[in-house]
Amino acid sequence: MPRFEPHPHRRPALIAGASSGIGAATAALLAAAGHPVALGARRADRCEEIAGTIRKDGGEAFAYPLDVSDSGSVARFVSAAAAALGDPEIVVSGAGDLGAERVHDLDSEDFAAQLQVHLVGAHRLVSHVVPGMVARARGDIVLVSSDVVRAPRTRMGAYVAAKNGVEGMARALQMELEGTGVRASVVRPGPTMTGMGMGWDAETTGEVLEEWVRWGLARHPYFLRPEDVAAVIAAVVATPRGTHLTLVEVQPEAAVVKPAAAPAPTGPGTADAPAPAGAGEERA
Ligand SMILES: NC(=O)c1ccc[n+]([C@@H]2O[C@H](COP(=O)([O-])OP(=O)(O)OC[C@H]3O[C@@H](n4cnc5c(N)ncnc54)[C@H](OP(=O)(O)O)[C@@H]3O)[C@@H](O)[C@H]2O)c1
Repeated sequence: MPRFEPHPHRRPALIAGASSGIGAATAALLAAAGHPVALGARRADRCEEIAGTIRKDGGEAFAYPLDVSDSGSVARFVSAAAAALGDPEIVVSGAGDLGAERVHDLDSEDFAAQLQVHLVGAHRLVSHVVPGMVARARGDIVLVSSDVVRAPRTRMGAYVAAKNGVEGMARALQMELEGTGVRASVVRPGPTMTGMGMGWDAETTGEVLEEWVRWGLARHPYFLRPEDVAAVIAAVVATPRGTHLTLVEVQPEAAVVKPAAAPAPTGPGTADAPAPAGAGEERA
């Protein structure tokens, strides 16, 4: 007799922020793994395009407009998705955007607006979905955070505050959900090549990068791809019952540096060291 009921065969997943980047990649990957997926974002036409591609590839997908800064919109998205696909078994909260202002230059209304999306938006999803999950005694909620919680970056004060709030809320939620069968997990990506930050002008981008180098925050030039983070989210929700990945930080791996040529052998019995696996390979 297993200690826990295994995951059900059908596990519909709601993805907030699915019109691009990590959310779009997560929708595609979860659909390929057999999950019916509901894609939500303000650009519902983009979500519908992605959903169409998923359906063409044999998956089950539903697209609906979603603005996580509006409670009514979240309520409509959740109920439309449940009507189309069934009760949600998985929710991925990854909606958000990023400004590039210094804290003291940022208008307080803009500061609050970033908290509204990243922090209160995540809470809106939790409050609309988790009670049903608790009643069914199972479910996965994945809150996409950021490595800025561990290593804050300049020009992102509101974002850093919001993501710290997300992780604080997540920890309290995990404690409150202990023993309910519902798992709340934090996925904390490092730099990822997505639409985020792409609206910054070239001058601002240059200044910000210089500041990050000055603060030791740009160790190497590789970024994660959205599919890399999606793979981590998929692994978190696929983890068998009885196990709970509470916090997973994912960073881009640095390019492999070829070891310097070994000095010529000087004595008998010296063997060539094998090249480390993958040496010289570059990330796509
Ligand atoms: N890129 C990185 O380096 C990085 C690093 C760590 C964490 N993250 C986190 O990863 C998550 C996904 O971001 P991304 O990098 O994939 O960026 P992205 O490509 O810009 O995607 C962000 C998504 O959020 C949606 N969104 C924005 N505001 C929304 C709102 N009010 N309501 C509903 N959807 C909204 C956007 O769609 P619409 O504009 O169509 O609404 C888009 O689908 C975010 O939580 C971000 O903080 C990113």
